[in-house]
Amino acid sequence: MQLWDFAALTYYRLLDRFSGTLNTLAVDKLDLKPGEAVLDIGCGTGALLPALVEAVGPRGRVVAMDFSPRMVAIARKRVKWPNVEVRQADACNTDHGAGEFDAAVALGAFSAMPDVPAAVANAADALKPGGRLFVFDVRLAKKTRTTRFLRAAYQKIAGFTGADVVDELRNVFERVEPVFRVEGETTTVVMATKVTDTATDSARTPCRPAE
Ligand SMILES: C[S@@+](CC[C@H](N)C(=O)[O-])C[C@H]1O[C@@H](n2cnc3c(N)ncnc32)[C@H](O)[C@@H]1O
Repeated sequence: MQLWDFAALTYYRLLDRFSGTLNTLAVDKLDLKPGEAVLDIGCGTGALLPALVEAVGPRGRVVAMDFSPRMVAIARKRVKWPNVEVRQADACNTDHGAGEFDAAVALGAFSAMPDVPAAVANAADALKPGGRLFVFDVRLAKKTRTTRFLRAAYQKIAGFTGADVVDELRNVFERVEPVFRVEGETTTVVMATKVTDTATDSARTPCRPAE
């Protein structure tokens, strides 16, 4: 069984109960408005779905996506709203829909992916100009004893490639700002904003074929 399928069936049941603070912060910072469309990348068991639906209201749209069939199955069980869709797909190799979303969120997701630059570019591609992305993730760029140990463990457990999520966000998004400074900087919480329309720039949107 794949790692994330295993996680869905085991510790995620517990983790869901404790993810409330981060979920509240994400929804708060995204400043979602009624009628907006929001994308949850690497949604896991869909713990964020109720808060996202509440924020965008019945005229809004929520699309959540994850690679793991088990995560997706659990997330789909939560869905009791007509304007919510849970997709099973690889965020590194998926066209979420160019310029379809006002906002997106990726909680602990990008760094666990095999092609972080592609996943970040695909997220940017999905956003409208002015679209905002809230990211919480692991950041192990600093070379200390702790980060060396964490890198090795994360690589072994989740296939961490060593990519720095913040650097990758800066390569694609015009504005990347920390939400707050994290002591030790082994994790990061940032808001990225897509200022201009990059949807037609195929070099930055790998899953979209050149026109
Ligand atoms: C640490 S979990 C975070 C889940 C959720 N965002 C949360 O906060 O509970 C990472 C998630 O990323 C998903 N994931 C890993 N690689 C992926 C990929 N290439 N495409 C889509 N999802 C992926 C995993 O299946 C897992 O559900």
